[in-house]
Amino acid sequence: MHHEKVLETHHYTDNLFSFRTTRPQSFRFRSGEFAMLGLEVDGKPLLRAYSVASPSWDDTLEFFSIKVPNGPLTSRLQKVKAGDEIILNRKPTGTLVLDALRPGKTLYLVSTGTGIAPFASIVRDPETYERFERVILTHSCRTVAELAYGFELMKTIEEDEVLREIVDGRLTHFTSVTREDHSHVGRITKLIDDGTLFEAVGEERWNSEQDRVMICGSTAMTHDVRGACERHGLVEGSNARPADFVIEKAFVG
Ligand code: A2P
Repeated sequence: MHHEKVLETHHYTDNLFSFRTTRPQSFRFRSGEFAMLGLEVDGKPLLRAYSVASPSWDDTLEFFSIKVPNGPLTSRLQKVKAGDEIILNRKPTGTLVLDALRPGKTLYLVSTGTGIAPFASIVRDPETYERFERVILTHSCRTVAELAYGFELMKTIEEDEVLREIVDGRLTHFTSVTREDHSHVGRITKLIDDGTLFEAVGEERWNSEQDRVMICGSTAMTHDVRGACERHGLVEGSNARPADFVIEKAFVG
């Protein structure tokens, strides 16, 4: 078990926050993986799965979390501040990794809510841009305020000279909300089905020749986006058998 220091926290809304911690030297992960993280409560570790949101080259670790009302861990974790200690366990693992996909041209990262966390790591990984010509990050939330983490992420990429050069305009951020007005309104499943997503990013509908998809969100969302992938003839992949799309549920802390 690693004991790591919290370096900073950022609260986006009443129910969303991120935090950055020190990184153990021995802590290696592939962009998109998750680890067990938490706090010591009454002398016992209270851990939940968290996707690492920071890229694998970063000296520190970043996580993005929901605040679950009365949640055993997140009701405590949301109160951490710089200088506090968190615990980090287990070797990182997961299916949202580049190795689980066959080579392709365009990579779609489809997320709702905190499901954007693993993709925050992937879009800052230079290898992503070696493997794909274009990367499309979709983020859908109930409200515009809940999109803030994604907008900040895009800003950090723009402001990082090295990353900006690597990305070279090949990353597109597509956002939609379902419960108020925004440039795109509706669930991502609807915007895939009616072609809005493809029209907005200037691409043809998914086809297994060139498109690869990673999905991260609630159980219902991952189920439904999987259906959309399958209707487009895409095949689910894994670490052992790379294919066209991969899925992971966004973890509730
Ligand atoms: P909606 O507002 O219509 O429920 P949540 O916070 O519940 O995880 O939802 C995050 C976003 O994912 C919301 O915009 C929500 O839309 C949307 N969503 C919920 N279920 C699905 C689903 N089955 N397919 C696609 N999007 C979904």
